[in-house]
Amino acid sequence: MLRGLWYYALPGADLRPGAAVHRQMLGEPLLIGRDAKGRVFALRDICPHRGMPLSEGAFDGREVECCYHGWRFDTSGQCTAIPWLVDGSEVEVGRIRVRRYPAREVLGNVFVYIGVADTDDALLPDLPKLADIGVARPQLSIETIFNCHVDHAVIGLMDPAHGSFVHTSWWWRPGREMQLKERAFEPAPLGFRMKRHRPASNARAYRFLGGAPETEIAFHLPGLRTEHARTDRYQYCQLTAVTPIDERTTRVNHVIYWTVPWLTPLKPFFRHIARRFIAQDRDIVERQQRGLKFDAPMMLVRDADTPARWYFRLKKEFSDAAAEHRAFKNPVEETILRWRS
Ligand code: FES
Ligand SMILES: [Fe+2]
Repeated sequence: MLRGLWYYALPGADLRPGAAVHRQMLGEPLLIGRDAKGRVFALRDICPHRGMPLSEGAFDGREVECCYHGWRFDTSGQCTAIPWLVDGSEVEVGRIRVRRYPAREVLGNVFVYIGVADTDDALLPDLPKLADIGVARPQLSIETIFNCHVDHAVIGLMDPAHGSFVHTSWWWRPGREMQLKERAFEPAPLGFRMKRHRPASNARAYRFLGGAPETEIAFHLPGLRTEHARTDRYQYCQLTAVTPIDERTTRVNHVIYWTVPWLTPLKPFFRHIARRFIAQDRDIVERQQRGLKFDAPMMLVRDADTPARWYFRLKKEFSDAAAEHRAFKNPVEETILRWRS
């Protein structure tokens, strides 16, 4: 699990002003909230007094109150009150803090920066770039839990060769009809990008965009995949964010934006289809775990497994660069990949 990156926390719509929720990310307990002014924040969800999760207490839009002894903290993590203190007490409330994590909202998604230790805001890396198609928040948002390590979720979702075997529903693929795919890839910040292309004619779901769409798919660390499709008239953008909850559990958030007006009334149907599709991805990697638990080695075979190889190389380079205090050097080179699917 890589540290020093922005991670997807939750859809912004799930946090109304004055709300705070518990989320576990990378094995760490977080309290993620939105203050009365609408700003998002994240704190370690542990009271520094005696370990009570702060999410068990109350948030009034300004301060969090621990449910055990009522210590209060502002949204920067600063302790503001210890109710039992008497006048003249030596305890310095101002020196007590709970760890704060940088949190930001991008196009209706809350991202939290998880570093090794507290990070100066001035040193934070850029926020993930999402294609802005002029829609401020996602029209569709689906969260799924995968019972597997983040790596299996990531490579399972980016795998270009499983479609004909896993996503065989009528609305996506008519069956095991396989076509030769040839796609150009290039390095992108902290990842790689499949250059803009026309999706295969056996990918039916794109037809709702009307006309022949062109799509661009990008991946970047820690586990963000974006897909942007456009025709002359419409645009569609999907973000898939893969976030480790702990070593064995992974959260996958799919958020979708579109400018196709007639798609909006069909949302329940579209949601149903998207859920089915994601469940297919979850079920296949969960079934794979039954084999992997016997320490099964993994073969990553060219060209279809090349994105998975890149993922592992990107991760390695990211941690090496951090350990050696040097700039990240993208290991991906411009390449054409060919496979059948
Ligand atoms: S444990 Fe939080 S105030 Fe005591
Ligand atoms: Fe899939």
